[in-house]
Amino acid sequence: MEKDYYDYLADLFEWGEKLKNEIMSSKITEEEKLQAIFQVEQWQEKIQSLIGSTIPELEDEERLLELRNEGEAFISDITRKKSESIPYGKHQLPPLPYSYNALEPYISEQIMRLHHTKHHQSYVDGLNKAETALYIDKKEPVKHWLREQAFHGSGHNLHTIFWYNMTPNGKKKPSGEILRQIEKDFGSWAAFQKLFTSVANSVEGNGWAVLYWSPRSGKLAIQSFEKHQLFQVPDTIPLLVLDVWEHAYYLQHKNDKKTYIENWWNVVNWENVNKRLKEARKVKWELY
Ligand SMILES: [Fe+2]
Repeated sequence: MEKDYYDYLADLFEWGEKLKNEIMSSKITEEEKLQAIFQVEQWQEKIQSLIGSTIPELEDEERLLELRNEGEAFISDITRKKSESIPYGKHQLPPLPYSYNALEPYISEQIMRLHHTKHHQSYVDGLNKAETALYIDKKEPVKHWLREQAFHGSGHNLHTIFWYNMTPNGKKKPSGEILRQIEKDFGSWAAFQKLFTSVANSVEGNGWAVLYWSPRSGKLAIQSFEKHQLFQVPDTIPLLVLDVWEHAYYLQHKNDKKTYIENWWNVVNWENVNKRLKEARKVKWELY
């Protein structure tokens, strides 16, 4: 446990180093660069003081969560500063907020590395190619490129949610606003977990299980997506997504999808799901 704790702190520190490199190579002004680097370095100092402390106290767990949240806030701030929008064809693979072996034993390092650097990267590349063809080169046939945009765009966005939906410090049960809403809409945490698990197991071939917020109904709901782009419900906001493509578990569990899904519940980042729910609730549509 202690080893995990210090390893995770070291990962967070390393993440800060990567962020600084990103900041230096970004297009923001020199002054903004200095400010952003200063912010990251202050954050790293806090991490170092925890690394320097001898035995992790109970409250250090909380501190760890705070630090990670702070780090995520930097990323969002810095990416926004870099540009107000992503130009067509210029999407990038988002960095993982933990190391490739951080989710072990639940998800192996080998899978995480391949999944992030190869599979997700190919969706980023495919989306960039489709957008360049559609909006810049005006290539035909449009129908083909639209399909590519839907497939790769959905793949890119879902994987981005998926990485942040997970953490090595997963709590076994949600808390806060998401727990209250789950109990309100599904009756209990156990009932929700059972239904979500069953939805994930029901996916034929490749797809996702998705918990989403529906601003149209003011409720949570669960849906399975086929591949990345089929069976989606428009005007809803995914909060928690589970990748049940074979590439997400085959190297570790062969065709035993059930065990992969059971293991996954141990690494869910409920803080992140809560954060997404809070943001999603800002969309106020009329209820129908
Ligand atoms: Fe995937």
